[in-house]
Amino acid sequence: MAIRRILKEGDETLRKISRPVQEIDKRTKQLLDDMAETMYANDGAGLAAPQVGVLRRMVVIDVGEKRGRELLQLINPEIVETEGSMVNAEGCLSIPGRRGTVERPERVVVHALNRKGQMIEVVGTGFLAMALCHEIDHLDGILYTDKMIEDVTDREDV
Ligand code: NI
Repeated sequence: MAIRRILKEGDETLRKISRPVQEIDKRTKQLLDDMAETMYANDGAGLAAPQVGVLRRMVVIDVGEKRGRELLQLINPEIVETEGSMVNAEGCLSIPGRRGTVERPERVVVHALNRKGQMIEVVGTGFLAMALCHEIDHLDGILYTDKMIEDVTDREDV
């Protein structure tokens, strides 16, 4: 495994639409593992393939207390259902040191392939719902700052 360089806001790649993964091969799995390692090394809760310069629809997420225990590696993820709404502060490894509030669904249902190519359903509420929406947005070239309600970088109470 290897830690990859994370592209920062301003890089054109972050604004492009990622293409679906057609075949899950050795390279796909290597990338998913590198993405997880890169996310953990940067103390993030999620990372999308375009953030490491690969325009393919893949995300990794871990919102667990014990890192590595709740790792999700999702291929071609799609939000198929949303419910409710909430406003929370978000950050992004491509926009270091900043935070802003965004409105997201309170609950989402996501369909994706796992690394074995099996169709899986992930139901996320709260922080996981936010992470799923945030990472899937990256696959469409969208950054949280595009949807930001308020910049809360300098606030400690949000
Ligand atoms: Ni992000």
